Amino acid sequence: MSSQLAIAEKEIKKHGYLDIEVDPTLDLVAEIEKLKKEKNAIILAHYYQESEIQDVADFIGDSLQLSQMAAETEAEMIVFAGVHFMAETAKMLSPDKKVVLPDLKAGCSLADSCPAPLFKKFKEKYPDHVVVSYVNCTADLKTLTDICCTSSNARYVIESIPEDKGIIFAPDKNLGAYLQKVTGRDMILWNGTCMVHEIFSNEKITKLQVRHPEAKFIAHPECEAHILDKADFIGSTSGLLKYTQEDDAETFIVATEAGIIHQMELKSPNKTFIPAPPNNTCACNDCPHMKRNTMEKLYLAMKYGMPEIHLDQWVIDEGVKCINRMLEISEKAGLSTKKTK
Ligand code: 13P
Ligand code: SF4
Repeated sequence: MSSQLAIAEKEIKKHGYLDIEVDPTLDLVAEIEKLKKEKNAIILAHYYQESEIQDVADFIGDSLQLSQMAAETEAEMIVFAGVHFMAETAKMLSPDKKVVLPDLKAGCSLADSCPAPLFKKFKEKYPDHVVVSYVNCTADLKTLTDICCTSSNARYVIESIPEDKGIIFAPDKNLGAYLQKVTGRDMILWNGTCMVHEIFSNEKITKLQVRHPEAKFIAHPECEAHILDKADFIGSTSGLLKYTQEDDAETFIVATEAGIIHQMELKSPNKTFIPAPPNNTCACNDCPHMKRNTMEKLYLAMKYGMPEIHLDQWVIDEGVKCINRMLEISEKAGLSTKKTK
């Protein structure tokens, strides 16, 4: 290994990204566009990324659409502007491609809440149950999972399981409880949550609704039940976006990570979007993990082709099975990749 490469890898281990100063006068958009061509790279961005990153991405989508895109792309390098579990999923679906994540420390509280060794012991208590895991989990957890799901296909995944079969659902207890309600299935729930979706304040949302009686309140199913109970519409990020485009309302109070509002405003420039207020004083519902990615880190990741996602071959072979089952169910349900850009 060249000494430069060794230094870069040490840097990444320490910071999660290449800590190299970027010339502040550089036109990052133009440089990133150049690198896309030079490296035959595609940028896949989740709706929760900062707006500048969304604007430079080739494809913006929800977790399902991004994994479908990662499986289909012919680019040589996938640059994942999202969090670690998403880049791992892309690597499992396209193991021969180089997958880079601008910051390896862009994690997820849900994924962290379900360590694979603990889950393995938990699962042993229910040997006859089918394990359904929300895609927001580690690659190791996927090796212990029968079928993966995202918030846009979870209902179809649960309904695909024979009624006499018990189900373990991990790691999100809020999404799990919501699915129990809509499918009528009793499930064993792992006790995990998303730090962003559990901070919404019922009281502050009610006050906002009083001030904006015309507004529709829309929420992601990772929110707690008492928040979902108030919602006019519940859906995945792409589902929420679609709803705001199709519904007649002109004002929406949005209970999910605030990054999605960028696309809502682009798609419906004459409508008003109000982020649902959280239970904290900084009034912020940004995901600190998603927001670790910056334009500078994106540029450096493309330029140097690192930090790269590496997975053991057995993890890819075992973990991809539950993702492929999810993609088959999604295709049958007509949830195919929809280009959003
Ligand atoms: P979706 O994009 O599938 O709705 O997921 C939201 C999320 O929390 C991603 O981390
Ligand atoms: Fe994880 Fe929640 Fe952030 Fe999504 S929004 S990456 S579920 S912590």
